[in-house]
Amino acid sequence: MIVATFMGWLAAIELVAPDLTENMAWLVFGRIRPMHINLVLFGFVTPGLLGAAFYYIPRLLKTDLYSEKLGIFTVVAWNIALVAVVITLSLGLTQGREYAELIWPSDIMVVLAFALIFFNFAMTVRQRQEPLLYVSVWYVLAGTILTATTYSLGNVIWRPDTGALVGIPDAILLWFYGHNVFGLLLTPLAAGVTYYVIPQAVRAPLYSHSLSMIGFWSLIVVYTHIGTHHLLQVPVPTWLKVVAIVDSIAMVIPVMAFLINIWYTAKGKLGAIHADIGAKFVFTGTIMYFFVSIQGSMMSLPDVQRVTHFNNYVVAHAHVGVLGFAGMIALGGIYYILPRITGKPLFSRFLADFQYWMILIGVVGFTVILTIAGLVQGNSWINGETVYRILPQIHVYYLIRAGLGLIIFISAILGLYNIVRSIFFNPGERA
Ligand code: HEM
Ligand code: HEM
Repeated sequence: MIVATFMGWLAAIELVAPDLTENMAWLVFGRIRPMHINLVLFGFVTPGLLGAAFYYIPRLLKTDLYSEKLGIFTVVAWNIALVAVVITLSLGLTQGREYAELIWPSDIMVVLAFALIFFNFAMTVRQRQEPLLYVSVWYVLAGTILTATTYSLGNVIWRPDTGALVGIPDAILLWFYGHNVFGLLLTPLAAGVTYYVIPQAVRAPLYSHSLSMIGFWSLIVVYTHIGTHHLLQVPVPTWLKVVAIVDSIAMVIPVMAFLINIWYTAKGKLGAIHADIGAKFVFTGTIMYFFVSIQGSMMSLPDVQRVTHFNNYVVAHAHVGVLGFAGMIALGGIYYILPRITGKPLFSRFLADFQYWMILIGVVGFTVILTIAGLVQGNSWINGETVYRILPQIHVYYLIRAGLGLIIFISAILGLYNIVRSIFFNPGERA
């Protein structure tokens, strides 16, 4: 999180002062931005959520993990892949397609990691002592195997040289995969953690197992084919756009099935959520999920997207989703599980709370500032202004965003300090 947010902050500085990194090829915006995005996605949020799954899957299934050794192997392989990502992207080795920038060898490592993680979980399910498959298990199994598949398709893994098809079919395939990074990776993994943490934290059974299954299957049915809502301004076949738009609105079904289930489970017990910093992060993530989903459904309407597309409005949405929803829940999972693994309380609840507020202020601030900047851009463009003439108008928003980003970056450092102290130098009583 520290490295990834630092890259984001650097990118934000470059939007304020574009000439700053002149003649420093490895630091130009075009290299820093994909590093930021790939590191938040594959270096921070996904491993955070997967780490939680490695904790709760054996517990939910009342059995040991199928192979601890394989688990450790995947962690090591995952981190080698991340180092490769930073080195290759900073050298300018990229396939140049958003969310699919990584070159072929890195792609292979990512797919292999997801496949091995799925195998480990699936084998654990096979040897389980608990007959009921709780919804978190469904989400994790689906998230890992579907990502291994859609990642391979979206990265056109059978063409190592370009990692791409040609023309419009390439854009369609790319965004089929790109959207599934949010819909079939981050969302199910974050939902899995939420379904585990919230009922435990409030000491109440889940409101409805049936509703959780409706949420799961409707997510699989609806989310899988709405990627074309990223391409409404592109000459893709109209029927594909219609499918994407209709089902982007239909997303209200899985979203509300999940949220109603969680919120009813926690109803009347918000005190217990407040008392546990992990649950607090996770619960806040669910509120962000509500906002990002409503916002996303609106942005899928062609009339709305004519204003919001290609500008900072989308970047605002992206941070509510990936940081406010999935990132918050990843941190919540870490803070919930850490004391239970170490057997000691967190080193500092105050620091964790402080980090919570820094992130909340950062992400809400991002949303407000970038939404305004986006609306200024979008409305000006519709009125015939060219892109560069609007840049002076949004300079101040870029400046504020860089300030807010610094807060989030510092919060990441505090978080690491707290976690390292909790594990290694923790004077706390054994819980
Ligand atoms: C009902 C749910 C959602 C819908 C209907 C939706 C819809 C959309 C649409 C239409 C766009 C494209 C906007 C444009 O390019 O003009 C978009 C972009 C994006 N969404 Fe969502 N969204 C949803 C939920 C989420 C969630 C939960 C996340 C994160 C976990 C997320 C992350 C993103 C990101 C990162 C982008 C930017 C993609 C890019 O780089 O262009 N969205 N979303
Ligand atoms: C862990 C927290 C964060 C997450 C999960 C995250 C996620 C993302 C995502 C998904 C995008 C792609 C947006 C799009 O293309 O629509 C993005 C872009 C960006 N983020 Fe972050 N981000 C985080 C923190 C930060 C921080 C602290 C900053 C510092 C200011 C920052 C600055 C940026 C910038 C400058 C871009 C590029 C926007 C553009 O192309 O105009 N992010 N981030």
